[in-house]
Amino acid sequence: MTDRMLVLNAAELVTLRGPERARTKAEMSQLASIKDGAVAIQDGTIVDVGKSRSILKEHGSRGTTKIDASGKVVMPGFVDPHTHLVFAGSREFEIGLKAKGKTYMQILQEGGGIFRTVRDTRAASADELYREGSRRLKSMLSHGSTTVEAKSGYGLDKEVELRMLETVRMLDRDSPVTLVPTYLGAHAVPPEYKDKADDYVDFIVNEVLPEISKRQLAEFCDVFCEKGVFSVDQSRRVLLAAKSLGMKLKLHADELQRTGGAELAAELRVTSADHLAHPSDDGLVAMASKDVVGVLLPATPYASMSGDYADGRRLIDVGVPVALGTDFNPNCWNESMQFTISLACFKMRMTPEEAITAATMNAAAALGIERKVGSIEQGKRGDLIVLDVPSHEHVPYRFGTNLCSTVVKEGRIVWSRT
Ligand code: NIG
Ligand code: FE
Repeated sequence: MTDRMLVLNAAELVTLRGPERARTKAEMSQLASIKDGAVAIQDGTIVDVGKSRSILKEHGSRGTTKIDASGKVVMPGFVDPHTHLVFAGSREFEIGLKAKGKTYMQILQEGGGIFRTVRDTRAASADELYREGSRRLKSMLSHGSTTVEAKSGYGLDKEVELRMLETVRMLDRDSPVTLVPTYLGAHAVPPEYKDKADDYVDFIVNEVLPEISKRQLAEFCDVFCEKGVFSVDQSRRVLLAAKSLGMKLKLHADELQRTGGAELAAELRVTSADHLAHPSDDGLVAMASKDVVGVLLPATPYASMSGDYADGRRLIDVGVPVALGTDFNPNCWNESMQFTISLACFKMRMTPEEAITAATMNAAAALGIERKVGSIEQGKRGDLIVLDVPSHEHVPYRFGTNLCSTVVKEGRIVWSRT
């Protein structure tokens, strides 16, 4: 039996119709909205998009699930291209430390931060990791994320890194959300390799990456390239090894200091370089010329109390295709792309249109899936959200509450406000 859905009468249907690639510069302002818009989905795929009257005439047969979006905004499901979804424990006690002036790096170097979460995650059972991950994913879905990238990086040894990626695979199988797995073994130098970062890189390259590749546990490989963590040369080694195994690449680049991350991202033509609070101008120009997506994560400086927001306006003006992600992690417990969009507008000088493009189409490009999701166009996956606001500008404007009323994944209602 065919499965049909009609979404009708949207006050504003944000389609993002346009080229099947990341949008840059002025393209990021073009939402291609339709007033009184409608979408027809069949067997999980969008088959028609237009004005409500003509869609209803064409597809208004019986046996169709109908959603009335009168007075509401309909837009593509959010793609969250940067999360650390799976870990054990929490770090709420760091708020007080940060409030008293401790920086993110100080907490890390004193054995807290990532190291604290590594201890908790190594001690957790596979079941516990799955249960915690599943709860977070449900919350993300209820806030409109229909595709979520998820990194490993709190095991650092082989066994627990593999367990984290297996957990991501199970969550992808069981949850309506599509997950994209990333291996981030180079997230920190583990205590057993203290002062031997090069040896740890050897271990990643020789022992862990081949196993992950053989078992197809990760689509992407990522590295935390930062002064005091992994150098540009060490990052290059990890990423080149991953590339030779057929994996796609990402990089945590120039987050806390100018480290040369943007330049390395361009040199290796990684799919995305993330954070980018301190990139050089040359690095940004190089990224733009190589179509490297810049994933900005405004909740991170918010949660770290650093005030160090990336300059979204500057990146867009230089021509870098900008995407947005939550950076959900134990330092930054942000499950909402809506809040992320709001922060991007208020703290990174991005317009509502640019931020929405960054959270959908360009976020899809940051995961290499821009032909499948990220816009409401014929042939794309039927992933969309209904927001209880009259126009898209209300999304950043009304922060702090969940504006979603319905979430649709591949033509099925997977969450709705009751
Ligand atoms: O993207 N910067 C490095 N990694 C994460 C934070 C991880 C953590 O603090 O647990 C990030 O912000
Ligand atoms: Fe991160």
